Amino acid sequence: MAYKILVTSQKGGVGKSTVSANLAAFFRRRMALETTLIDWDSHGSSSTWLKQAPQLGVVVLHEHLPLDKGGNRPILEARLHLRRAASCSEIVVCDLTWSDAIAAELMFEFDLVIVPTSVSEIEMATTAGFLSRHRWVFDSATLRSPTLLLCPTRVTVEQLEKDVFSMQRFPVSFMLAPPVLESQTARDLFQRGYLMDARNDCGQSFLEFARAVCEARDISMREKESQPKRHAVGPVLGRRNSSAPGTGSGILGQASASPQHSVLGQHRQRKVLEKEPASLAARSMTALGIPQFLRRMARSSVDSKL
Ligand SMILES: Nc1ncnc2c1ncn2[C@@H]1O[C@H](COP(=O)(O)OP(=O)(O)O)[C@@H](O)[C@H]1O
Ligand SMILES: [Mg+2]
Repeated sequence: MAYKILVTSQKGGVGKSTVSANLAAFFRRRMALETTLIDWDSHGSSSTWLKQAPQLGVVVLHEHLPLDKGGNRPILEARLHLRRAASCSEIVVCDLTWSDAIAAELMFEFDLVIVPTSVSEIEMATTAGFLSRHRWVFDSATLRSPTLLLCPTRVTVEQLEKDVFSMQRFPVSFMLAPPVLESQTARDLFQRGYLMDARNDCGQSFLEFARAVCEARDISMREKESQPKRHAVGPVLGRRNSSAPGTGSGILGQASASPQHSVLGQHRQRKVLEKEPASLAARSMTALGIPQFLRRMARSSVDSKL
């Protein structure tokens, strides 16, 4: 069964194609998994990337979604593309600029929805608006919701020092990925090479992000194996504050909720807390290699549990 990932946001220029192409490349080469990229963007940036950069064996499809036709047409076409791709792959990565012409039901086709966002105030507000409109998908009580992974992209070193996420309100359950750093390297590699090969902070940050996605997949697969017949389940890693579903089970900006919710952070932190005395937990988080600003969140979360 293929693990299906949608990389989407309503804004251009946030790094969707960069994330899509490089994530597909990572799954193919580092994880040795059969991988397909479906590029639903008319610009074809991610499909061109994988065709022009050194070949890794990713199956690349540049497909057209008939968004102008309205009704069910786009979603039916998308399902067709997905079914075809999933039949020959272990991983399917889809690159899509979201438009209001797309029925939100499309997201239920996916295991993981990655929303790249820069951390500028204006873009965070756009992302929060997008997520709040689709909150019913991620907090569905009846259908299997995809896991929502927010990926801070093009993050500068100065921005790492700010607790931008804790100041925002995201009214939906989500996980926060380690940030992909802003770097000239990423621009230089555009459609030429892969971020995972960059021997600098940008390459390192991408690898941490990609590993977090792998971890989300591992956990999802373990959960599917242990509960094969379950239909109405929430996000694999989500459902923090499950006592208050749909009422801001999202984490950020909630006074009572932990601001710590990265895939690496939350999951591992739970393991750490189970295994170790609380006084050792914060130190262990440091050893896990979580980027600085997530470590800080992790620390405050650990502190709040003490
Ligand atoms: N981490 C990064 N650092 C610097 N520039 C980036 C980074 N990620 C993407 N870019 C640049 O931003 C521009 C838009 O990226 P792209 O992936 O095409 O975004 P989208 O698909 O959301 O429109 C490109 O010029 C790309 O090189
Ligand atoms: Mg793009």
